[in-house]
Amino acid sequence: MDRHSLLFVCLGNICRSPLAEGMFAHVVAEAGHGARFHVDSAGTSDWHIGGPPDGRAIHAAAARGIDISGQRARQVAASDFSRFDYVLAMDESNLARLQAVAGPEPGARLHLFLDFADGLSGEIPDPYYGGAEGFEQVLDMVEAASRGLMQRILAGSAG
Ligand code: 4NP
Repeated sequence: MDRHSLLFVCLGNICRSPLAEGMFAHVVAEAGHGARFHVDSAGTSDWHIGGPPDGRAIHAAAARGIDISGQRARQVAASDFSRFDYVLAMDESNLARLQAVAGPEPGARLHLFLDFADGLSGEIPDPYYGGAEGFEQVLDMVEAASRGLMQRILAGSAG
């Protein structure tokens, strides 16, 4: 059985990408496909390396039955593009930074994560400077994107 590896990337690796990693793992486990996926997350910045997710992200995820408290931030590396099948960016700025890190011939497929959500596309907004509702919106978006991406990968049509 081939195992699909996915790396979720945002700026700090303490808000959006930890939520994306936790939600994707939750969605595939619930669907009975957990063993078919390996997930991780990283930040384009080095600002929070080694730190836990933002407390607001931990709290919002826990309210939906998802524990992200054990995650620790790291910075994305060029080697990630050979280690992962898919690299999923949360916004256009992350995507541009990733394209620069990846170089001209990345092994991994690089996409905006939200483009896999049914009826949605584009950026997942940075909730860092806002209130709790921003984290709820991120969770709704990463749930929709996770369901769409899981289905597309399992169907062999994720691109
Ligand atoms: P993230 O959010 O990229 O979703 O993890 C942010 C986290 C930290 C900062 C900015 C955005 N910061 O400025 O430290």
